[in-house]
Amino acid sequence: MPEKYPVQKRAEPVEDGSVIVHRHLDYEEAELVVELIRNETTITGYSIGEWMSKRDVVVCADAMTGALLGVALVHHLLPGWSEIAVVLVLPKWRGHGIGARLVKHAAEYIESLRRKAILFYCQDSMERIVLRLGFDTYADDVAFARKSWPRLLFLKVIYPLQWRAESYRRQEIRRKMETLHCHFQFKIAVPAHIQRLES
Ligand SMILES: CC(C)(COP(=O)(O)OP(=O)(O)OC[C@H]1O[C@@H](n2cnc3c(N)ncnc32)[C@H](O)[C@@H]1OP(=O)(O)O)[C@@H](O)C(=O)NCCC(=O)NCCS
Repeated sequence: MPEKYPVQKRAEPVEDGSVIVHRHLDYEEAELVVELIRNETTITGYSIGEWMSKRDVVVCADAMTGALLGVALVHHLLPGWSEIAVVLVLPKWRGHGIGARLVKHAAEYIESLRRKAILFYCQDSMERIVLRLGFDTYADDVAFARKSWPRLLFLKVIYPLQWRAESYRRQEIRRKMETLHCHFQFKIAVPAHIQRLES
């Protein structure tokens, strides 16, 4: 994790016996998460190395054992945007509010860095989560960038350059389009306060 995001070990206990903590994944956890994502049609990939050291990672873990229940990856991008790039809850723990808690925590964390959170999604369940959390949602990038040159420049030029910089992602998106027939028509969600940070 880059030094300018000094968040290791910050833990937030929650009432159901799980904790939210900022830490990287160990090899076994990273391998599991990458394998689960490889089979999901609604989400794109980050490499084992990114989960283990390169990106900012938020973990929901069992408070007693530390076992991984769910995870989010925050990808800090220029200029001032931070993408909640992956939200994944282990299959047996879905439907317990962990996904919502990870999104809420990641968005608050990004806001605390005075950065702008953005989340791309193509899943109804994620749409209900972000709407319940009070995010603004947009049907596509055109709707998001309407009347805003900075947003258009970010989405059409700066974001793709940064996102595709990692060869793992380029390979994975190609593989998923060919073998899983994914289309990746993403909608966009941003916290409602974001316009304050953009002006
Ligand atoms: C999308 C995903 C992260 C959601 O995680 P989750 O932990 O199941 O999400 P939540 O539990 O917060 O919400 C899911 C549902 O459970 C419900 N729920 C939450 N807590 C609950 C509880 N204690 N009891 C019963 N239901 C509950 C929510 O209301 C929600 O219902 P809805 O879909 O009808 O609105 C998870 O399904 C996942 O990992 N999917 C695969 C990866 C993926 O597609 N990620 C999203 C990419 S954008």
